[in-house]
Amino acid sequence: MTYNIAIDGPAGAGKSTIARRVAKELSFIYVDTGAMYRTIALSLLRSRINAQNETQVAEALPEIQVSIAYQDGEQQMLLNGENVSGLIRTEEVGNMASKAAALPCVRAKLLDLQKELARTHDVVMDGRDIGTNILPEAQLKIYLTASVDTRAARRFRELEEKGMAGSFEEIREDIIQRDEQDMHREIAPLMQAEDAIFLDSSDMTIDEVTEKIKSLCR
Ligand code: CDP
Repeated sequence: MTYNIAIDGPAGAGKSTIARRVAKELSFIYVDTGAMYRTIALSLLRSRINAQNETQVAEALPEIQVSIAYQDGEQQMLLNGENVSGLIRTEEVGNMASKAAALPCVRAKLLDLQKELARTHDVVMDGRDIGTNILPEAQLKIYLTASVDTRAARRFRELEEKGMAGSFEEIREDIIQRDEQDMHREIAPLMQAEDAIFLDSSDMTIDEVTEKIKSLCR
């Protein structure tokens, strides 16, 4: 039996940083499910497919192969065999991912891949519906959030470090819009699972959040 930790929460809450750290320290694998949605989004953007048009998206999906590989312990996203990990971190792709993720056909496509990874490995998996939908039996569930301003500031710094920052205001607006989309969609909306532990990281350091999750795990 594998040990699964599910971390859900809104954009910019720090899920990926924390999940990566916790996974490393526990020697689990880190599964970034957002990156999977982003990979599909990139492919849709490249083919200029409108994510509001479910029929078009459903037609395109069979040609989109999403798989993952690990390089030095880091998850790499493969789109039809091409490593696209460096191309999926833009806000444009993030927004498209959020739109595409509202479609049942897109979610269905990634469900098996996510479940299978957790069945065969000890994982820290982060996303929006991991505790509620994908891994309802996870031994530990965390709902990680932070205030809108904190999350916008973190996302701003993250993009700035990569040399692709837009304006802070724009990023803040993006985050608000994405929360709205993710929390109010019909299928697998972002919400705290009943048995998830709520963590607000606004006034916590990465170390503190990591330690907290590790101690909950113990
Ligand atoms: O990094 P950030 O939190 O901004 O986003 P992400 O985790 O990379 O996910 C991008 C988008 O994919 C989110 O806005 C969600 O709409 C969607 N997503 C989802 O619906 N379910 C997941 N398990 C993971 C991501």
